[in-house]
Amino acid sequence: MQKTDFLVIGSGIAGLTYALKMAQCYPDKKILVLTKAAADETNTKYAQGGVAVVNDPENDSFEKHIEDTLIAGDGLCNEKVVGIVVKEGPDRVRELIEWGARFDKEKDGDYKLGKEGGHSEYRIIHHKDVTGWEMERALLEAVAKQKNIEILKHFFVIDIITQHHLGYLVTKATPDIECYGVYVLNSQTNQVEKILAKITLLATGGNGQAYRTTTNPSIATGDGVAMVYRAKGRIENMEFIQFHPTALYEPGMKGQAFLITEAVRGDGGILRNKEGEAFMARYDERKDLAPRDIVARAIDSEMKRTGTEHVWLDCRHFEKEKFTEHFPNIYEKCLSIGIDIKKNMIPVAPAAHYSCGGIKTDEWGRSSIQNLYACGECSSTGLHGANRLASNSLLEAMVFAHRCYTDAVNRADKLSFTDNIPDWNEQGTSEPREMILITQSLKELQQVMSDYVGIVRNDVRLQRAMRRLDLLWEETEQLYENTSLSIQLLELRNLITVGYLIVKGAMFRKESRGLHYNTDYKGKSELVQNIVL
Ligand code: FAD
Ligand code: SIN
Repeated sequence: MQKTDFLVIGSGIAGLTYALKMAQCYPDKKILVLTKAAADETNTKYAQGGVAVVNDPENDSFEKHIEDTLIAGDGLCNEKVVGIVVKEGPDRVRELIEWGARFDKEKDGDYKLGKEGGHSEYRIIHHKDVTGWEMERALLEAVAKQKNIEILKHFFVIDIITQHHLGYLVTKATPDIECYGVYVLNSQTNQVEKILAKITLLATGGNGQAYRTTTNPSIATGDGVAMVYRAKGRIENMEFIQFHPTALYEPGMKGQAFLITEAVRGDGGILRNKEGEAFMARYDERKDLAPRDIVARAIDSEMKRTGTEHVWLDCRHFEKEKFTEHFPNIYEKCLSIGIDIKKNMIPVAPAAHYSCGGIKTDEWGRSSIQNLYACGECSSTGLHGANRLASNSLLEAMVFAHRCYTDAVNRADKLSFTDNIPDWNEQGTSEPREMILITQSLKELQQVMSDYVGIVRNDVRLQRAMRRLDLLWEETEQLYENTSLSIQLLELRNLITVGYLIVKGAMFRKESRGLHYNTDYKGKSELVQNIVL
């Protein structure tokens, strides 16, 4: 058993930013970061477009960035939180640059600014088309220099420890549920260990793997959300799953899809249908740069109308040098599968991309469970509302990592460890006889979510999805009770929980708003509400 004042789950931008700040504040204390895969295998690493931040006061302003965020969020953003993120953003970006992150500059030394859907101004700083890779690199290098941060890789957190594990009845109505640490599966020893902490931060990222095709890597299985739900904490707005309009289409695509950043449309890329028509003009006056929910729905509609599996992104009019300077990675990827962007259009289709809802927090990142903070994509802070504005999530993660740190920093000294936590009980379990059952159930889950809970929904589809999820849940719980733990089983269980929360939220929301489009309720309800589960 280990003990630490500050425990961090996740080594993406949210977890590492918080860990660095805490470690610099307390040089004599060890900050423990747990991560279930290699340290850099995160959604963060795959971010392309960049960070939306106001840094050109002549042409841009906080007010404009706030307004763009509110419009994209379709009436459901928490305006106070939007103001906080937009206004505190520039300071957080400066810190990241001090830690070593490099963003592209013009010849005069100003940052190059990109544009994406829903933005009224050019405000997205970036490192070519691999911004997330650069940010993750800089953060990991800064962490490596900070001797009091320890990263334990391939440590899979199973559950947070609360009064429930001490034998008390804990329900949604229990006041002051407390987090004492976590149970974690050490993949090297295959043993479940307990790690006690005074303060725990969940920074476990997104849940794109609940769908058949996603831009997210395989780690994005919604573990943090599922853990908090099991621990009876509050989860909010899970129905708002953002589909990125332009994942690279490859025949038979499933699993992680390569992204074609929205910045390509910001630089002039044009969406065309099977007939070659630049169809976005028919859907929105902002055309290819309308907010993501609108563009993804328009593509979905064109694909259904023309009976195709993708539309096209036309970049043939770009100067090659200009394209390769901003998008070298995309250029190379396309070339590797025989697409020369000067000659050929790029086939693209929507894919699950981002979870706007998650663990409900207040404006300091506190979850509904005592001593448990949540930050980054696993959290629901109120910034995104019903649809996240492009490139606002890296910014949110940095701003909220700082706010979690600010709130937590003085509290640990007033807390003590809760020592009488029982060991993990594995009695009565045996090795699974057929791992294939787990993989089959995962495929079924992804199929159900993609077919019935995608970009366009209706009540019958949601009911079908729920019935199928019930069955998957029952079968998976039997496996969980009777077989020894494996990461595949734990992830499947979490993904089914996340699927359930998405469907439940979608069923409760009797309207079409932002990313949740239900053909049985085409308009918006006058009752503007967050769905808390
Ligand atoms: P992540 O970076 O996903 O990190 C999660 C961490 O938690 C990982 O280390 C993982 O191993 C760990 N973890 C999860 N579960 C467990 C567990 N059970 N036990 C232990 N560890 C666990 N946003 C923008 O703002 N701009 C962009 O340009 C942009 N482009 C994107 C492009 C792509 C292809 C994708 C997928 C996303 C993009 N996003 C972008 C979104 C953004 O990258 C993510 O929202 C953000 O990086 C999430 O950071 P995070 O720290 O919350 O989570
Ligand atoms: C992209 O580069 O298109 C993704 C940006 C984002 O998800 O914010």
